[in-house]
Amino acid sequence: MNIVKTQSYEEMSRKAANIMSAQMIHKPDSVLGLATGSTPEGAYQILIERCQAGDLDFSEITTVNLDEYVGLSPDNPESYRYFMEDRLFSHVNMNAARVHFLNGIASDPISECARFETLIKELGGIDFQLLGMGPNGHIAFNEPSSSFARTCFKVGLTESTIEANKRFFDTAEDVPREALTMGIGTIMAARKILMLVSGSNKAEIAEEAFTGPICPEVPASILQLHPNVTVLGDVAALSWMD
Ligand code: GLP
Repeated sequence: MNIVKTQSYEEMSRKAANIMSAQMIHKPDSVLGLATGSTPEGAYQILIERCQAGDLDFSEITTVNLDEYVGLSPDNPESYRYFMEDRLFSHVNMNAARVHFLNGIASDPISECARFETLIKELGGIDFQLLGMGPNGHIAFNEPSSSFARTCFKVGLTESTIEANKRFFDTAEDVPREALTMGIGTIMAARKILMLVSGSNKAEIAEEAFTGPICPEVPASILQLHPNVTVLGDVAALSWMD
């Protein structure tokens, strides 16, 4: 695990955008696993600027997003699908047919999870997975648990996650209680992983996840076992490092 401490959110975002740009230049038809949340927004903005300047091409890129809230349709402004359209896809030359999401309003969530898992396999797997981390150590929506989930599944969100994510909704009551998410196994099968972590509220859990024991109670700790993972964090989140 390669952990890189940057001085600020801006520096972390620039470095993240550099790593993602390099991936896209080396392999223009990469399958990118993408994440939502505040943490990757700065990097997405830089990718947009590079694409609009003609330095980055999304036309052959395929994307698969980590997760989606149950019950939110793609045109719901709080859905992750909407978030990605708004923060990245609608500003770059992305081919809409190559954008893939778990469908939060699927009538049969179990089949929907199986469909997504199969789709990722048919795409040849994820070349590059971008991740953030929840304050309780969750990745995608893999909440602290007694075991690691292998594949995509429907999950009940913890109070801690509802509390952390309510800032995107009018009230905490509006936060969906369930989500569809890639499993830990799905994420760990990605060839490369870039984890972004920002802010002092993530410092304690980051230290636990990246230096503590590997356990499903701290889902991000599993990344210690991945052969090609870079953690990029700002000084606030990685204050515990020398
Ligand atoms: C959500 C998403 C995660 C994301 C996390 C952190 O719960 N499901 O994929 O990593 O939020 O969000 P933020 O970057 O806003 O702290």
